[in-house]
Amino acid sequence: MTATESTGTGKDGRLRRGEEFEARIETLAYGGRGIARRDGYVVFIGGALPGDLVRAQISKSKKGYAEANTVEILEPSPDRLEETDIHQGEACPGAPWQAMEYGRQLEFKEEQIGDALSRIGHLEGFELDPIVPALEQWRYRNKVEYSFGEQDGEVVLGFHPRGRWDDILHIEDCRLSSEATNQARNEVLEWARKEGLSAYDPHDHRGVLRNLVVREGRRTGQVQTRLVTSVANFPKPPVDLHTVIDGPSGNTSGPTGVLGEEVLRERIFDLNIQLSHDAFFQTNTEMAEKLYGVAADYAGLTGSEKLFDLYCGVGTIGLSMAGQAGHVWGLEIVQDAIENAKRNAIANNIRNADFVAANARTGLRPLIEQAGKPDVITIDPPRAGLSAKIVRRVIECEAKRIVYISCNPTTLAPNAAQLVEAGYKLVRVRPVDMFPQTPHIECVAQFDLA
Ligand SMILES: C[S@@+](CC[C@H](N)C(=O)[O-])C[C@H]1O[C@@H](n2cnc3c(N)ncnc32)[C@H](O)[C@@H]1O
Repeated sequence: MTATESTGTGKDGRLRRGEEFEARIETLAYGGRGIARRDGYVVFIGGALPGDLVRAQISKSKKGYAEANTVEILEPSPDRLEETDIHQGEACPGAPWQAMEYGRQLEFKEEQIGDALSRIGHLEGFELDPIVPALEQWRYRNKVEYSFGEQDGEVVLGFHPRGRWDDILHIEDCRLSSEATNQARNEVLEWARKEGLSAYDPHDHRGVLRNLVVREGRRTGQVQTRLVTSVANFPKPPVDLHTVIDGPSGNTSGPTGVLGEEVLRERIFDLNIQLSHDAFFQTNTEMAEKLYGVAADYAGLTGSEKLFDLYCGVGTIGLSMAGQAGHVWGLEIVQDAIENAKRNAIANNIRNADFVAANARTGLRPLIEQAGKPDVITIDPPRAGLSAKIVRRVIECEAKRIVYISCNPTTLAPNAAQLVEAGYKLVRVRPVDMFPQTPHIECVAQFDLA
């Protein structure tokens, strides 16, 4: 740490919880916090950008590192935008990198992918293709999940501040999502206030309103709202879907009644897609096309290949490549998503695609028995990546090419190392910026059987 001053440091040089100190930020860690160093002792500082001189307070102190939050920016980084340049001067709670110039955001993301693959995966010799920048830097999200709370006796709707599961930061306008979805959100809030409903309190488990999930078909203009409540009697809410949760669960899944439009309609490339509420869909529709475009480029299909689309969701990757493949087989754990995928194939007149609902861990061997071994595999797992066992199942497929779409380079890296160990070559990787103003990184990696 180029700490210029610290107070009350422990004998071993460690900064203690609650202590304040000054530090110049050197770079950014994966996840977006600033890194400062002192005699090899690393401090991760929230709310700080590289080049900032900050006064920070320690929130966690461990043997090899500490965590801290910025209390005051003493000297802003040259990369820091003027307050008034940050989207009309108003902070957006879902956008921790909003003060950083967009070009710098892209540089950091590119750097962090190369870094994760070399430092965690010990991989080298691959091409790092330039990051694909986002088409829209704001109002790009097609899905936002809000939480209800109460402040001064009034129901509010917004996000949990970082690390504060029982507090809500009320917002009127989420600048990462469209004006139309914000309007829909505010209409539901108005209704809830008019009906005098209470917000669910995670401490005593009383209260009704829990979450509001707003999704948008960016190409169809459809806005779909899903209200999540506790079990209670109240007038019919003005939403499309109503999920009821019995018990203290913190998530938004549960029995869901249909009050308006059941499915969300979207278009991606020339495909008409339908999604049920519990099916995953890429959060940035416009950039999903760019992401799938890179995946198709890396897959290099010639018209005859058997393609396995693993973790296929509603089938969009496989369906968008079906025209260049011999046959597509999609595999996905969520049954409703598979029903959507089958329907999406029929609706788009795609006859060379089949979909199975299964866990990748147990479903791959039966899929090989049914379909034979694939020539090419696309894999698009959740943030946790693949377990070592699933990677072994993937290796057993003996595909000549694997295209891995990852939303977390720190889990891609060990999976990549295992594939390389088994005889694959990591040929190239390309980041795609799906989430401007945030540290989230998406990328596509190509592996060829050596
Ligand atoms: C990042 S999403 C990708 C979905 C799809 N490829 C797309 O582009 O929209 C990951 C998907 O993996 C599914 N999934 C999670 N765990 C799984 C497992 N063990 N086996 C199969 N699918 C799983 C999720 O339901 C989700 O649809």
